[in-house]
Amino acid sequence: LFQNAEFVPPDAIFDVTRRYLADASPDKVNLGQGTYRDENGQPWILPSVRMAKEAIGECGHEYLPIAGLKLFRDEAIKIALRGTKAYDDGRVATCQALSGTGALLLAGLALKKANAGITTVYITEPTWSNHDLLFSSLGFKVVSVPYYKDGAFDFKSYVNGLKEADSTSAVVLHACAHNPTGCDPSRDQWKEVGRLVQEKGIFPIFDSAYLGFNSGSVDEDAWAIRYFVDALGLEASICLSFAKSMGLYGERIGLVSYVTQSTETARTMSSILENVQRATVSNPPAYGARIAATVLSTPAIAEQWSKDLITMSGRIKSMRHKLFSELTSLQTPGDWSHLIKQTGMFGYTGISPSQVAYLEDKHHVYMADTSRISIAGLNESNVAYFASALDDAVRT
Ligand code: LMR
Repeated sequence: LFQNAEFVPPDAIFDVTRRYLADASPDKVNLGQGTYRDENGQPWILPSVRMAKEAIGECGHEYLPIAGLKLFRDEAIKIALRGTKAYDDGRVATCQALSGTGALLLAGLALKKANAGITTVYITEPTWSNHDLLFSSLGFKVVSVPYYKDGAFDFKSYVNGLKEADSTSAVVLHACAHNPTGCDPSRDQWKEVGRLVQEKGIFPIFDSAYLGFNSGSVDEDAWAIRYFVDALGLEASICLSFAKSMGLYGERIGLVSYVTQSTETARTMSSILENVQRATVSNPPAYGARIAATVLSTPAIAEQWSKDLITMSGRIKSMRHKLFSELTSLQTPGDWSHLIKQTGMFGYTGISPSQVAYLEDKHHVYMADTSRISIAGLNESNVAYFASALDDAVRT
């Protein structure tokens, strides 16, 4: 029966983690998967999350409703849409999802089920590897649009590529902290992208995995979403993840939402989201939802979370600068200033695949084959080591 089945290579990002864990070297450095690490290179349980867990205590193990925990949905959507007319009017359908990937999955399934006539999904080149895999697995045609050139956002090529799209298309937009390049459009550029999306009738899907984690401010990081929904009055899907912003990676806690033109349509989209959730995972896991809901709905804990976001984004920013200054003092060939211009969790180094392989083989440095590094994996103890390994790789 399975004679013609073809072996599928392991996921590139998860495989970096596997190789890193299998390496016995005391020098090894993990800059692969996007997971926050503290100044000692350890996973960090946010103080706000600890407070929430304490407040929750014993909580039982009953099923959640199909759409998830209501308090979580009500609180989470505010992060994206607070202050918008769509939110005030209640023109929003929400459903708890299995983190960012689960949210994108439900968004895609709901687009199909809603008979919206969308057959093509535009993504950026490069992008997070799961975008292509996920939307092509759902049967959409996936088109990549150039996004990055010479260490920066290639606005011209991006807009030109997007001009090919029409009302049978959706576009995946990274709300902030573009993964993997760390290069976001400026506000003026967002406005032009928004105008184009509106003019062509393209449906925007915001992949919003880093709200608050990018700049330390949720409102700042949600600017593009609110501009599209409020200033332009567009319908959109917004996919949220609390993996990075609350460090709840393994709890798989996220939210999918649809902003619509009427409360009636929002009701319809809610019913569709519930239906596609039931067909795929039945109902979502409870514990992460309870934690996130408690963090967001308890003023003292929410205040601590704001501080935690600043701790994480601040440490990452300082590591960017530290890495840049190490490379500058080593006089590493090339211009590395893009590392301090980029934002978010990642640095897009621009080194070649053979240099990436060399770093792993010779120096036990693990990173994505796209040349992306997770800046959060750097700390005072390993940043100089990484800089000199990179210097060696570039000179070899
Ligand atoms: C990453 O890009 O490293 C993370 O978002 C983890 C993942 O699921 O790929």
